Amino acid sequence: MSTVYQATASAPVNIAVIKYWGKRDTKLILPTNSSLSVTLDQDHLRSTTTSRADPSFVKDTLWLNGKEDEIKPGGRLATCITELKRLRQATVENEDPTAPKLSTYKVHIASYNNFPTAAGLASSASGFAALVASLAQLYALPVSPSTLSIIARQGSGSACRSLYGGFVAWQEGVHPDGSDSLAIQVAPQSHWPNIHALICVVSDDKKGTSSTSGMQLTVDTSPLLQHRIKAVVPQRMKDISKAILEKDFDTFARITMADSNQFHAVALDTEPPIFYMNDVSRAIIAVVVEYNRLSLANGQGYKAAYTYDAGPNAVIYAEEKNIKEIIQLVVSFFPQREGAFKDNLGVFPPGAEVNAQATVPAGFNVGVALKREVGAVKGLIHTRVGDGPRALGEEEALLGPEGTPK
Ligand code: DP6
Repeated sequence: MSTVYQATASAPVNIAVIKYWGKRDTKLILPTNSSLSVTLDQDHLRSTTTSRADPSFVKDTLWLNGKEDEIKPGGRLATCITELKRLRQATVENEDPTAPKLSTYKVHIASYNNFPTAAGLASSASGFAALVASLAQLYALPVSPSTLSIIARQGSGSACRSLYGGFVAWQEGVHPDGSDSLAIQVAPQSHWPNIHALICVVSDDKKGTSSTSGMQLTVDTSPLLQHRIKAVVPQRMKDISKAILEKDFDTFARITMADSNQFHAVALDTEPPIFYMNDVSRAIIAVVVEYNRLSLANGQGYKAAYTYDAGPNAVIYAEEKNIKEIIQLVVSFFPQREGAFKDNLGVFPPGAEVNAQATVPAGFNVGVALKREVGAVKGLIHTRVGDGPRALGEEEALLGPEGTPK
């Protein structure tokens, strides 16, 4: 029997606290500003990818959630696969003439997200990171996650940050070839493990503007974006990195919310204007603002930080000690359908009904937002900061003996 060359990896989702919005090079995906994110725990949200190289395969093929997906020549997927093959050739095969010439074989790739696309969470970051991690493992590439991040970046900008766990910066870089536009780890998960996240999945019926086309419109038309790039982001990158290193949640929260606000302001400053948040998104902001007002009044500093990407979903970052109170507060305004909150991290007694746990802290002004109907927030996902891509065993492989999805 001939050798099977196959590898499986999983990769996490990341949610930015300093937002990437704008490209200076659309082909290489080079950003107009640096950004910084928190990697979320892949025990809860992840993409898993299996890659196999075989001389009998006739073309590179990708299956996404079991369905064959086109690999467009010259497209983002094709670019990532080509770059990884090139790296295999330039390193392993070049250094050891007896190494199998995997770079010359076609690949079969199967990828699966454990969260539904309908959850409204971007899967491109974890998806491209898992693809790059699995091929890098298959090819035994002797390179750092930062080098792999350069390749993942060309799949989707935000994907480069999912090559590391913990707190991750994407440095914009200065070289026109993109060789210094890569991810670095600011601090590992173990540095500040009690950073938790509550993802509030907000119903969204209309099809919004994609990140890719939205950010290009912003680059082309928004004067505010130019101010953001020059005068705002560089200082925020320094300040939030320091806050992370010092585990200063108050500063981390202030900067996170300010940067989310400014990202949505540059979207609004685009012609034609882009709106990603809706009334429910804004109501969640009002609740978090009042929660922080109370906390500040009690001399405790900011205890919660909201952030929004290119859609209406909120992500609320908080320290573990406050997350239960925050979940109780959120369900007071946004009651959940049965089963819509999965108690991933065991906040409530086993079997407890989440709506029965609803309560607001003493002194909280409930007048800041209206209580919504059940399902206005259609799901709550409680997770926390997590680790980077993982190499998985054969038992988790997505390809069967024939090299097609199991
Ligand atoms: C608002 O990485 O999805 O989530 O590079 O065109 O694939 P492309 O865009 P993408 O944009 C993410 C934008 C954001 C902010 C962020 O994650 O930093």
